Amino acid sequence: MPGEIAIGIHDLSIASTEYVLTHATLAAQNGAPVGKYERGIGQLSMSVPALDEDIVTMAATAAAPIVERHGADRIRTVVFATETAVDQAKAAGIHVHSLLGLPSATRVVELKQACYGGAAGLQFAISLVHRDPAEQVLVIASDVSRYDLGSAGEATQGAAAVAMLVSAAPAVLRVEDPSGLFTADVMDFWRPNYRTTALVDGRESISAYLQAVEGTWKDYTERGGHPLGAFRAFCYHQPFTRMAHKAHHHLLNCCGREVDDAAVAHAVGHTTAYNAVIGNSYTASLFLALAALLDNADDLSEQAIGFLSYGSGAVAEFFAGRVVPGYRAHLRSAAHRAVVSRRHDIDYARYREIHEHAFPADGGHHPVPHETTGPFRLAGLSGHKRIYEPR
Ligand code: COA
Repeated sequence: MPGEIAIGIHDLSIASTEYVLTHATLAAQNGAPVGKYERGIGQLSMSVPALDEDIVTMAATAAAPIVERHGADRIRTVVFATETAVDQAKAAGIHVHSLLGLPSATRVVELKQACYGGAAGLQFAISLVHRDPAEQVLVIASDVSRYDLGSAGEATQGAAAVAMLVSAAPAVLRVEDPSGLFTADVMDFWRPNYRTTALVDGRESISAYLQAVEGTWKDYTERGGHPLGAFRAFCYHQPFTRMAHKAHHHLLNCCGREVDDAAVAHAVGHTTAYNAVIGNSYTASLFLALAALLDNADDLSEQAIGFLSYGSGAVAEFFAGRVVPGYRAHLRSAAHRAVVSRRHDIDYARYREIHEHAFPADGGHHPVPHETTGPFRLAGLSGHKRIYEPR
């Protein structure tokens, strides 16, 4: 932990979408064996945003209960991590700031480095709180992952947001020093500005991810981090949940440990519960893993949790967090389970319609039909401006 002050996650809240498409439906459409999805990549279903939902509405939905519980008086910074930005200039967090009625004396900024942005936001927030422990930082990670219809990446789509209140004397998780860092210039996954769907070299991305696991762990241990055996569980970025198993398998190998499936399942098992049914939420995925672990595991008080954030391109970070005794009283487990269970199943035709939807770029007035039953919605696009409203 930085200095003598314990800093970390004081509260954590997740949100997702109105709709869900099962992998059984996708498999029936494209002829793939459903076992390839359910067991091969570890995905059962994917969240699909309604036409009036996006990264802003999910972010505001995730953050609203945090502001409701703690107030906004101490929040002086909002960090919004995403790789599916809705504007090239304006930070999406400003829309959230407005929807939640946060004070004007706030700095709001957007961060990007593929799926690593959320972990970067958390680390930057810790530095800000270290400078002034009276301040809190609202870190939001929100993304909609989209690949071309019929592509290999299609089965790994998803959408979610995680909001975290970072503060001194946190109630849930203390984030510790040191961090292990790794950057390498690889083109494993990217999205040029002129595309709405990402491009991915799937096999390259898996091997780049594993190389990053090795690189971050090496730097982490060289900087005096905990030995492998000190960790109770590991939260990995999960582009698909089998990746967490592959990553941990690789880490055990690198450490010269005996690898057996039971040891891997013990380390990552609980962390995949939300990602398996929500799909890849890019920046939010690592923290959905944390939410699932906290919501589903037996008491983890004072246990060390390892975090591996990987963002294609590629930047990665390994760090430790220690669970704060009494954390269970602060969790939102019932609300998180409802985020998953409240979604409505859609058929392939509806999914395809949503996937192919695009706003006209003519600057006209384009209202969006009412679909979401969440608390915030995208009302439309008018004069090239996105209009958001509470529902
Ligand atoms: N039952 C069980 N498992 C099956 C199966 C079946 N019927 N059919 C295939 N599988 C397994 C394969 O053996 C493979 O497992 P392995 O990786 O352990 O060998 C897995 O399912 C996937 O099969 P594969 O043929 O490799 O699938 P694919 O060519 O469709 O690609 C991804 C899978 C993950 C590479 C692809 O979905 C992708 O590119 N996703 C995006 C990755 C990403 O987001 N990267 C960026 C961030 S890290």
